[in-house]
Amino acid sequence: MFEELKITGDNNCLVFEDKDTVKFINKGLTINNNGKNNIVRVGKNAILNNVIINFGSDNNVVEIGSNTNLTFTAILKIVPNNKVLIGNKTTMGGGSFICGEGTTIKIGEDCMLAWGLEFRSTDSHAIVDRQTRERLNKAKDIIIEDHVWIGAHSIILKGTHIKKDSVVSIRSVVAKPFNEGGVVIGGVPGKIIKTNIDWERPLLG
Ligand SMILES: CC(C)(COP(=O)(O)OP(=O)(O)OC[C@H]1O[C@@H](n2cnc3c(N)ncnc32)[C@H](O)[C@@H]1OP(=O)(O)O)[C@@H](O)C(=O)NCCC(=O)NCCS
Repeated sequence: MFEELKITGDNNCLVFEDKDTVKFINKGLTINNNGKNNIVRVGKNAILNNVIINFGSDNNVVEIGSNTNLTFTAILKIVPNNKVLIGNKTTMGGGSFICGEGTTIKIGEDCMLAWGLEFRSTDSHAIVDRQTRERLNKAKDIIIEDHVWIGAHSIILKGTHIKKDSVVSIRSVVAKPFNEGGVVIGGVPGKIIKTNIDWERPLLG
């Protein structure tokens, strides 16, 4: 049964697909709201462990899929219309989504996101051409397709697109789209270091 709860501010809401199936661990879910028309949707059987969502503007959306197990902080910044979308069955041990300038950070289904991560779709400040003053570092969406494993302490910057069945190696900095799936991306900047791979979730050690 869908349940909708009002959160502070003007026309902000938190919608649970079925609140009784959602588990809140430690501080569960905290929403700090500084805007209007913001919405958080939480799917069935989500486990929310210290999830913090900070809305700094209006018309933002955070979607948490069903059967997820997540620890994260999402900061939706001062320009409106940002989205953080997390697919069903995705897990995350910890990190932040910094989403601004009207962009979307979309994480697919069954992704395994480790800890110490930063997803950043805006640089927050401008780099401009010295003569024309044209902005050079425009904000861009981040897309992580289904079944992607992102190793600990990695940073995923604006414009990143990682295709299905791929892995990002520990402490990588990824900053561009990759058009091949089933690859290991590693290093600073992240480059393809292995092709034709897949990965499996069961914990080995
Ligand atoms: C992604 C990972 C699993 C790949 O392991 P792998 O398939 O055995 O890869 P290899 O160790 O054979 O590395 C392949 C090549 O890439 C290089 N490489 C691996 N990780 C790299 C990185 N982060 N940066 C730069 N180069 C890297 C290796 O040096 C090797 O180079 P070579 O071919 O010149 O010898 C592993 O690198 C990793 O990140 N492990 C940690 C995962 C993690 O964060 N777990 C937390 C729990 S979710």
